[in-house]
Amino acid sequence: VIRGGLALGAGAAVTPRVAVAAAEDRTFPNDFRWGCATASYQIEGAASEDGRGRTNWDVFSHTPGKVANGDTGDVACDSYHRHAEDTALLKGLGANSYRFSVAWSRIFPEGRGRPNQKGVDHYNRVIDELLAAGVEPYVTLFHWDLPAALPGGWQNRDTALAFADYAGFMAGKLSDRVRSFMTVNELRCFTDLGHLQGIHAPGLKLAPAQANQVRHHGVLAHGLGVQAIRAGGRAGTQVGLADNPTVFAPVIETPEHVSAARKAFRDRNGMFLTAVMEGRYIDSYLAEAGADAPTVKFGDMAAIGSPLDFVALNIYAPEWVRADAGPSGYAVVPHIGSSPRMASPWLVVGPEAAYWGVRHVGDLWQPGTLYISENGASADDPMTDGRVDDADRVMYLRNYLGQFHRAIAEGYPLHGYFLWSLLDNFEWADGYGKRFGIHHVDFATQKRTPKLSAAWYREVIRQNRLV
Ligand code: NOJ
Repeated sequence: VIRGGLALGAGAAVTPRVAVAAAEDRTFPNDFRWGCATASYQIEGAASEDGRGRTNWDVFSHTPGKVANGDTGDVACDSYHRHAEDTALLKGLGANSYRFSVAWSRIFPEGRGRPNQKGVDHYNRVIDELLAAGVEPYVTLFHWDLPAALPGGWQNRDTALAFADYAGFMAGKLSDRVRSFMTVNELRCFTDLGHLQGIHAPGLKLAPAQANQVRHHGVLAHGLGVQAIRAGGRAGTQVGLADNPTVFAPVIETPEHVSAARKAFRDRNGMFLTAVMEGRYIDSYLAEAGADAPTVKFGDMAAIGSPLDFVALNIYAPEWVRADAGPSGYAVVPHIGSSPRMASPWLVVGPEAAYWGVRHVGDLWQPGTLYISENGASADDPMTDGRVDDADRVMYLRNYLGQFHRAIAEGYPLHGYFLWSLLDNFEWADGYGKRFGIHHVDFATQKRTPKLSAAWYREVIRQNRLV
């Protein structure tokens, strides 16, 4: 923003020769939702308490060689017992919102059938406590911990139907106090990482046709879930999903690269967010899948494209894209050794992903409301004299938040930001070795200690402004 010249002190004789950019206004909109995010299997522990059924992640993490250091979610952050303490941490930050997930197998230990009241009671307590602290709950219904009793897991279409039953049931139980529900978290991760790459539960490396069918069941679960939540929840219940589309950012912001990046974004997410937003599989995806395209039943695509009240995005690493003369019109510029990274090898630093993720979704599909359901970073976090001065994480967060602010300043309807994560926790196949929290957790004692990043985030929230 160019806002005229410098205000010079009295007696200053010199008029600045050039207009200078005034300090940019980094204030966020009134009523912006500031929160943190977590997920059940990553924080709760209490894996065999109060009737909780086994999940795919219990099985996977107890299989030798699957998770770093042999770590499991058996105890995690013990949040099942320490939720009051965690709520106090949120309150300490001044957060007005909290995104957490319900463990499906605490509610339906067998995945379907008879509900377990103790599971419902637990989430009722968590929600009541949050509301008493002035923190609005945002509930994710599936964040990867799938009841192990469901035959065939995501390879079986019935799992999508079972999810819808569970989602509708939870909306009925919680929507008197919970306004916003997210169906599933990160379509690409619970389908591909678990069924194609084999590095997450259930650890399979399926052939392309079967992997595409799993993807289809994932988006179908979301769509049927939306319908069930609308049917089971109170009027006014807000429904969306928390997805992690691959974010293609233009290498340089010139029109040709910008439109190449937008095309890449729509094409490369064709089996996930694009299908959800458009209610169909686009031609480029079907052409690429060829004979391996999923089997789709009549009515599936209409369900998958069910209208949403909001779209929430988990945004971390960018993919850089340039315009290209080939048939697709774009080429991905690979990450290289000198691409800056945080502690997780996949976490390439690229704050532009924040802006372009929001902008592509806004430009392509014009959702009325967007949230950032996750953004954060792993860092080494050495503790010295009881302090964790995670200046690197603060640097990362400040830069990403600046790019989210840019999207808001340009008019994109971004209404809230959930930092991943409130606590260090079970980082899936990386176990406890990769820390994403703004509160340090000593997993031997369960002591929580705010890091420098927590102090920074508290100040951002207090001022409602990027500091
Ligand atoms: C995305 C996932 O939703 C979350 O579970 C995970 O811990 C973070 N990203 C960091 O990898």
